[in-house]
Amino acid sequence: MRILITAGPTREAIDPVRYLSNRSSGKMGYAIAEAAIAAGHEVLLVSGPVSLTAPAEAELISVESAAQMYAAVRVAILRCDVAIHCAAVADYRPAQIASEKLKKTSENLTLELEKTEDILGSCRSPFGFEGTLIGFAAETENLEANALAKLERKGCDYLVANDVSRKDIGFDQDENEVIIFGADGSRQALAKQEKRELGKAILELIPARENP
Ligand code: C5P
Repeated sequence: MRILITAGPTREAIDPVRYLSNRSSGKMGYAIAEAAIAAGHEVLLVSGPVSLTAPAEAELISVESAAQMYAAVRVAILRCDVAIHCAAVADYRPAQIASEKLKKTSENLTLELEKTEDILGSCRSPFGFEGTLIGFAAETENLEANALAKLERKGCDYLVANDVSRKDIGFDQDENEVIIFGADGSRQALAKQEKRELGKAILELIPARENP
């Protein structure tokens, strides 16, 4: 089976030397990629800038911005049976990218931001992806309600939700603790464990018909 995995943060340029980004390390996506390869799957890893080494067997597509990740996923997803969206894609980017480094001339500086493309939310339509779609949700409040709303809104089969307000799991940690909500109404709480182990559990969600 071919599995597309998005991982890491995106960088949204402000000027030639500055960008907006977030604290995603890419560890969760890379752990899933490793687990998928170990299970005999083919992996297309669409990754934002991270300091991790991609598994040698994965097809790595490196991107920086949300727009680049959107374009890469749009093409790659139609070659895949399963898509797992772990990337922490920026929701907003600067509306204009300054062509020269911004100068420190005024006391205050206001950046106007515009929405980025919703990659996960585009997979069903307009991309036309019909395979198993798995999204992630990093929440700091109302985890369950927000996750269920996201599951439905983005047409996912499963939504893996974690509480990023906790310091011991999630962003840049080796461990995570998640609840996996299914479009079939299922709800599976996975205890705190290594991201690699979680990766295996997430792969087990894939329907048998799509397993090799
Ligand atoms: O809407 P929110 O960012 O909370 O949704 C998180 C899920 O959506 C993750 O699976 C993330 O990879 C994906 N996402 C995306 N494109 C965006 C924002 C989030 O694919 N612009």
